[in-house]
Amino acid sequence: MVDDSAIPVRVNVARLQLIGVMHLQRQRRNHGSQNCQQHNQDSQSFLHVPIEPHSQTFPNRALALSQLSSRGLGIPALSHLSSNAMSSSQIPVLESYGPEHLETAFHALQADVARQAAELRTSEDREQFRLYWLGRKQGRLKLISDAWLKNAPAEARRSLGQHFNQLKQQIEQALEVDPANLAASSAPADAIDITLPGIRPTLGAEHPLIRTMHEIVRVFEHMGYSVGVGPEVETDYYNFEALNFPPNHPARDTQDTLVVANQQQKPLRDRLLLRTHTSPVQIRTMERKPPPIRIVIPGKVHRNDAADATHSPIFHQVEGLCVDENITFSDLKGTLDHAMKELFGSNVRTRFFPSFFPFTEPSADVQISCIFCGGKGCRKCKHSGWIELLGCGMVNPAVFEFVRGRQPAYDPKKISGFAFGMGVDRIAMMKYGISDIGLLYSGDMRFLEQFA
Ligand code: DAH
Repeated sequence: MVDDSAIPVRVNVARLQLIGVMHLQRQRRNHGSQNCQQHNQDSQSFLHVPIEPHSQTFPNRALALSQLSSRGLGIPALSHLSSNAMSSSQIPVLESYGPEHLETAFHALQADVARQAAELRTSEDREQFRLYWLGRKQGRLKLISDAWLKNAPAEARRSLGQHFNQLKQQIEQALEVDPANLAASSAPADAIDITLPGIRPTLGAEHPLIRTMHEIVRVFEHMGYSVGVGPEVETDYYNFEALNFPPNHPARDTQDTLVVANQQQKPLRDRLLLRTHTSPVQIRTMERKPPPIRIVIPGKVHRNDAADATHSPIFHQVEGLCVDENITFSDLKGTLDHAMKELFGSNVRTRFFPSFFPFTEPSADVQISCIFCGGKGCRKCKHSGWIELLGCGMVNPAVFEFVRGRQPAYDPKKISGFAFGMGVDRIAMMKYGISDIGLLYSGDMRFLEQFA
């Protein structure tokens, strides 16, 4: 068994790091304990270290490595540096002052500096690196330049000086790196850098139609209305018949829609279709609950309309129904006037024009003063000063008769009510200045992001 403690080795810190323990073993085998000043022929850049036996005799391999590198930096541990052991042992031997040898010697030193600089992680590392190279008394640069300049022939001094300056610059540049960056670069590749700007998750936003729908509903909620919904696939009875559109009545022509196929064997009233308005939910609500009723019903409706800038085969409505004893047309006017002021601003005025809907009698169209010109007249209101916005009327007694079969309390002699229906799309377009209804259904993010 070999006694490790007796073996002095030649030391090249950088090289030792690279070749590791195996090489040490080989050297021991090759050179035994003989003179450590022997050349290592296989490496151009290997510089001989004159060994002072007391400082460079490593009792065993593990200790040798631990003394040579401080946490893998290749810099002898600080305690080691500060001791006098950091002395001529760190001074490589210069074979000659010839340009080639100078070149080789400095090349090796620069490689040392570069490798150590690349491994600096903390400000302590940096300080240790600084002391190791630039320490005023024991710094490697000082010791080496003292040693090499001492015997330098006059003609080599200039070149030596230049080499030392370059080396010093390289060291100083390495020291200029901000310790904060050193810390950042020390993080493992997969670490999370908490100083980077975060990734902002894109939040969804209400579609302008849904937002408008909610606004309308809220106005009525504040007046004590509840909110209901009904099916989009509806029977002919609820969509038409119970709303006083008799079969083959011309009023049906204004609300052409898609019907579910192969239903000819069913009675007309049971045939399914896509609802053309939210009004059928009036009937469904009254069938379920006796008066008093105050309800709004938002929802999607369908019509066989060719799409253009103001028409879409799918659109949205908010239906309203109020039924109780002694409900009058004044209640209707007051309610809708207030709702329009809430939606469009308190300066808005309303006016009611006679109209026709089978399920209301009398019926009216509601106009509001133009929100764009304040009523003076502009292109938007076709220079009339007014914009038509919704239909309404007093619930037709014929409708109560349809409901009465299931809810006897809807006796038209005892109760009365009003109803209204408004197009959400049109109101959204007015509120947000949208000129083409198709944009509301296009799913175009450039359009939708404007409402986020
Ligand atoms: N349902 C009608 C339509 O789609 C709108 C309407 C008018 C609803 C008058 C009503 C109303 O409740 O009373 O054209």
